[in-house]
Amino acid sequence: MTDLQTQIGDISIRSPLILAAGVLGTSFSSIKRVYNNGFGAMVSKSIGIKPNAGYVNPTIFLLPETRSAMNAVGLANPGVEDFFEKMKPNLEEKLPIIYSIYGNEEEQIRAIIEKLNQLNPLAYELNVSCPHGGKFGLSVLHDDELFRSLVTTAKKYATCPVWVKLSPNAVNITDYAEIAISSGADAIVAINTLKAMVIDIETMTPVLANKAGGLSGKAIKPIGVRAVYDLYSRFPKTPIIGVGGIETAEDVIEYLLAGASAVEIGTAFAYTDDQEKLGTQINSELESYLKDKGLKLEELIGKAHKE
Ligand SMILES: Cc1cc2nc3c(=O)[nH]c(=O)nc-3n(C[C@H](O)[C@H](O)[C@H](O)COP(=O)(O)O)c2cc1C
Repeated sequence: MTDLQTQIGDISIRSPLILAAGVLGTSFSSIKRVYNNGFGAMVSKSIGIKPNAGYVNPTIFLLPETRSAMNAVGLANPGVEDFFEKMKPNLEEKLPIIYSIYGNEEEQIRAIIEKLNQLNPLAYELNVSCPHGGKFGLSVLHDDELFRSLVTTAKKYATCPVWVKLSPNAVNITDYAEIAISSGADAIVAINTLKAMVIDIETMTPVLANKAGGLSGKAIKPIGVRAVYDLYSRFPKTPIIGVGGIETAEDVIEYLLAGASAVEIGTAFAYTDDQEKLGTQINSELESYLKDKGLKLEELIGKAHKE
């Protein structure tokens, strides 16, 4: 069997596949199912200091013609106290879980991290890039001083690496990465969803209750690949986790060649025939590709820059 292990800074995971934030990462049992399906690690739903009901339905709308999706969940989550209780089984099970967190004040980030540190996270993923997160979303990323202070605070209190998840809704994603990295970020996650809208021509209204939402899935893959390529060009020493439109081993390979050390997968779970096999199938196709090419996984990382 080919080794699919990959390194993200000091962290090593058994496969480059990671569950993306907000998709199946709401309960311990669903996270465990994804691990049993061959994934290297799982990111939780984004968690804030207080419970957040998010937006009213409809919050998700599938676009099957492009194997994509629109969502405006609005950072719905049970809040850190309740989520901590839900994730306590992991003190025994020790699955590689990355906690996605958000906030718009240093104090919130400190409190969330001090609570979740007790669960021995693999890493934190600081979400400053939700396009429908209102004052907790993109507006945090677009306030350089606040953004810098939240990353610095996360680094100060975290007992594990801090990854920062960026948005493609930016003139130059690498300028945001510069702020994150110079504030201590251990890795960059790119990309979150793209701000978008779909209108139903019969009802003549936007399909999502929030009107605008975030576009994910196959349609955004070239945008994610370009973001990862640009990030790797400018910051070749900082690990990058690629996200956006990944469904197959070919998609994973493309992101690795662009410079990602690992990838996250979300919307593909809505389109696969068998959710329980998504990870094992991609892993086995990755193994075959590496065997055919006579390469190790790490040799693919950033290879598109070299030839
Ligand atoms: C229903 C849904 C909920 C999401 N919730 C979150 C979230 O809570 N935090 C976050 O950082 N990203 C969230 N995302 C974005 C995904 O983590 C990912 O960045 C994006 O969907 C692109 O990857 P994909 O094309 O594989 O889905 C969500 C995406 C979807 C479709």
